[in-house]
Amino acid sequence: MGSNSCRSLRPIYFLIAVAMVFMCIESAKGSPIGVPNLSQCQLTTDTSVVPPLTTIHLNCCLPIPSGPVVDYSFDKYKVNTTRVRIAAQTASDDYIAKYREAYTLMRSLPQDDPRSFSTQANIHCAFCNGAYKQEGNDSVILQVHFSWLFLAWHRWYLYFHERILASLLGDPTFALVFWNWDDQRDGGNVIPAMFLPSNSSLYDANRNQANLPPTLVKLVPGITGNDSEIINQNLNAMYQGIVTNDNAELFMGGAYVTGTDLANSTVLNAPLGGSIENGVHNAMHFWTGDPDQPLLQDMGTFTTAARDPIFYAHHSNVDRLWDKWRYGLPGGPRADHSDPDFLNAEFYFYDENANLVKVNVADALDSSKLGYSYPNVAADDLWVNYSPPAITSGSAVEAAVSSGAPLVGAAPENGTIALGSGLTAIVDAPGNQSHADNQREVLVIQGLQVTRDTFVSVLVFVNLPNANSSTSTSSAEYVGTYNIIVDPGKTITTNVKFEIGDNLQRIGIQNDQQVVISLAVKGTQPITIQGLLIEYE
Ligand code: C2O
Repeated sequence: MGSNSCRSLRPIYFLIAVAMVFMCIESAKGSPIGVPNLSQCQLTTDTSVVPPLTTIHLNCCLPIPSGPVVDYSFDKYKVNTTRVRIAAQTASDDYIAKYREAYTLMRSLPQDDPRSFSTQANIHCAFCNGAYKQEGNDSVILQVHFSWLFLAWHRWYLYFHERILASLLGDPTFALVFWNWDDQRDGGNVIPAMFLPSNSSLYDANRNQANLPPTLVKLVPGITGNDSEIINQNLNAMYQGIVTNDNAELFMGGAYVTGTDLANSTVLNAPLGGSIENGVHNAMHFWTGDPDQPLLQDMGTFTTAARDPIFYAHHSNVDRLWDKWRYGLPGGPRADHSDPDFLNAEFYFYDENANLVKVNVADALDSSKLGYSYPNVAADDLWVNYSPPAITSGSAVEAAVSSGAPLVGAAPENGTIALGSGLTAIVDAPGNQSHADNQREVLVIQGLQVTRDTFVSVLVFVNLPNANSSTSTSSAEYVGTYNIIVDPGKTITTNVKFEIGDNLQRIGIQNDQQVVISLAVKGTQPITIQGLLIEYE
């Protein structure tokens, strides 16, 4: 398979050629991710590149139960109750006591028990740090981030984690809490009190000590200002990341199939993470992890993130926001991907009886079928209805041209462009070109390449030629942020997409044929891109 065999077609071997053309067409379609061979596990290490030099050994190889693999079905895993996941800041003392008890029990299981806290954390490490190869492609590692797999995989992960906790407690109604960090009014936007006492099973010492309450969360890394300025920037991060990205690719991410290789991709086949993952989700990992640890452990790097019990509450909110995006936003229900390569992707997890279970993406799409739900959260309205003010009027193209901003086009036109501390560029836009109703005006950062030695954010602004890494992100000129989690020595080449039609409309430059795009980099990693493109898609 792959391009080598496609290239060697020779007309003389007609039949062989026909067969190979067929194979090439087949392979271009890809095939859904399958479950890995758990007996072929790789040990690796994560070594910090910034002092102090630290190596984390990644033995996140998972136990292989002796019993048969269970094929998941709703029937087999039916519960006669709905587990209601509540906001962490609303949990009662009784609820918290039970929650602590559940994690105490989980932490006291032997390490190699599939249900132990250590195995639960290793599941995340294993599928995020390359312990396994893709089924059917031994040369490429399996990675559940940076693509359309992200939401469904984490939903299943929490589902079984919650079932194990419930079963250890002997309480079928037990439900995870969600860390309501998007709530900027009712107490959600700080570390929830239940995770703070150091004598509790919910505690983790490796958190940013400067971010304990009352410090407000920052949904864009490094934003500054007083509390109300932080709040507006948080609301705009939610608005730009969740509300305006109303198609599945923008919100959930793009295709990841057998053969998709994050370490070896081109603009054409580069993976694409969704806005929820790249934006607020990654920002909260960064915000929670300990900057005194070289890899921002625990939450700031995938190897260790799930060693902090707050991880599961964090992801519970990400999961809630998927439902909110799907069913709860103006304009009616939105659609998940429907591609069979998405629906048929399969994963392994352990259930509450320590069995290995095979699940697929299709079964994850309706959370009500999985027996849990989230209450309505009133403070969602603040970001759903956030109306970012435009701080510019009229096109900034002329000003940008006179200060020397280059015209940047789609790859491969401009070759490789180093970003340095940022880049301001003029980019051709489709303006009022006709398009279908469901199409959105999208900015594509093509072939963004970064070595993940330290945490990096790329902030994107439109019509603001002087934007830099300290520009406020509360206005309509702010488009979104691409954040990338630390994984030393790993390089990713990816495309990044942002809906910008809403921004252009608010500024009043929606019909312009050229717009000014500024990328502002936070962090010290060298970043290159291969092109900028604005199109309806
Ligand atoms: Cu698997 Cu929040 O990352």
